[in-house]
Amino acid sequence: MNIRALAARVVFQVLEKGLSLSVALPEQQQKLDNSKDKALLAELCYGVMRQLPQLDKLVSDCMSKPLKGKQRIVHQLLLVGCYQLYFTRIPSHAAISETAEACRKLKFEGLVKVVNGVLRTIQRQDKPLPTDNDTLAFNTPAWIIKKLKAAYPDTWQHVIEQSHQRPPMWLRNNARKQSRDTYLSMLSEAEIAATAGASHNAILLEQAKDVAQLPQFDQGAASVQDGAAQWAAQLLDPQDNELILDACAAPGGKSCHILESANNIDLVAVDFDAKRLERVKQNLQRLSLQAQVIHGDAAAIDTWWQGDKFDRILLDAPCSATGVIRRHPDIKWLRKQNDIDALAQLQSQILDHCWQWLKPGGTLLYATCSILPQENAQQVSAFLARTPDASLVTIEQQSDPLTVGWQIVPGQDNMDGFYYARLKKG
Ligand SMILES: C[S@@+](CC[C@H](N)C(=O)[O-])C[C@H]1O[C@@H](n2cnc3c(N)ncnc32)[C@H](O)[C@@H]1O
Repeated sequence: MNIRALAARVVFQVLEKGLSLSVALPEQQQKLDNSKDKALLAELCYGVMRQLPQLDKLVSDCMSKPLKGKQRIVHQLLLVGCYQLYFTRIPSHAAISETAEACRKLKFEGLVKVVNGVLRTIQRQDKPLPTDNDTLAFNTPAWIIKKLKAAYPDTWQHVIEQSHQRPPMWLRNNARKQSRDTYLSMLSEAEIAATAGASHNAILLEQAKDVAQLPQFDQGAASVQDGAAQWAAQLLDPQDNELILDACAAPGGKSCHILESANNIDLVAVDFDAKRLERVKQNLQRLSLQAQVIHGDAAAIDTWWQGDKFDRILLDAPCSATGVIRRHPDIKWLRKQNDIDALAQLQSQILDHCWQWLKPGGTLLYATCSILPQENAQQVSAFLARTPDASLVTIEQQSDPLTVGWQIVPGQDNMDGFYYARLKKG
């Protein structure tokens, strides 16, 4: 299989069909046997998503008219070609000839000359990367830049730059199996450099590794989870024998962490998306954990739950995912400005409803992987204003105790962007 042709297919599916990279990429990767080829395919697809506006401008400037309809995939192939010229160490002649060959493999024989010509022109001109406007300079849609400028007037550039860094790999030690210190020693014996993170079981790897190389990964000794996401279970602070709801649970990283954190927890893991719930079941199985996994709507709990109210609720709400662009650069192109109002509306609806199902004295932890105040501090402030029996419990880690909730920005202590607000009832 031609890796550039597969990359063009992935980019086409994301940009033209709206599929996420995490769905489109593995489908094409499984056509390759070799892990090096798989890694190159990922690098090309992630790279194009990160640098899209600049690549698009360089390619479009060399074309007399844009490719349309079915030929659009050749435009995406050109982006892949251009990415190789600017951002990889692949020699230009190899990048160009392999990309032209990919055009043949995609069955656009008639456009091979165009691909060759455009890429040769780009190589010959060797122009600096275009930075004519903010979208080009920051490889980010104007509407996101506008919102970040408003939210982070002094640091928005830094926030965007951090969203374009390659994220590190974090592990969560499974406290049921061994202490974090023991797992750090096991990693060190396997010659894997790692350090402890700030939350109880977080481990930061110096270099990303295939999970197959991690000591006892299959036996559940550790899980892959960003350092920011690992604060959820710690801030929720589950106690032995409690009844806990994970209201938006899939794929289940935080559900598993909650179960690892205390004894005899009765965990109800709910999600709207049946397919993603399968991943919750797989994760529970790998870690030998048990939960009630329910396909249901967190905004209509009485339709699937006849039991008691919950001692604690984790609401890891559906959100813009603007805090995790460094892991999912396709978010920049898949999310649309109008989505934010709709998401904020859905979040407040689920929050109000879950609150009804929390016992007096109980804790609800509201979380998002967003960095937009509309989904975070503003959302929680509005909730507090309309909910007399709710109070905010300050999170120790907040740098400013006066802000509503804890906003983590991308790159802060090597973590993803995340938001937490701890709410107490009565
Ligand atoms: C941020 S993800 C959750 C990640 C998960 N907590 C974890 O750590 O693995 C948000 C989830 O909310 C789910 N969701 C969206 N609307 C929902 C609803 N009305 N009820 C339940 N789940 C919903 C989505 O399917 C998605 O899986």
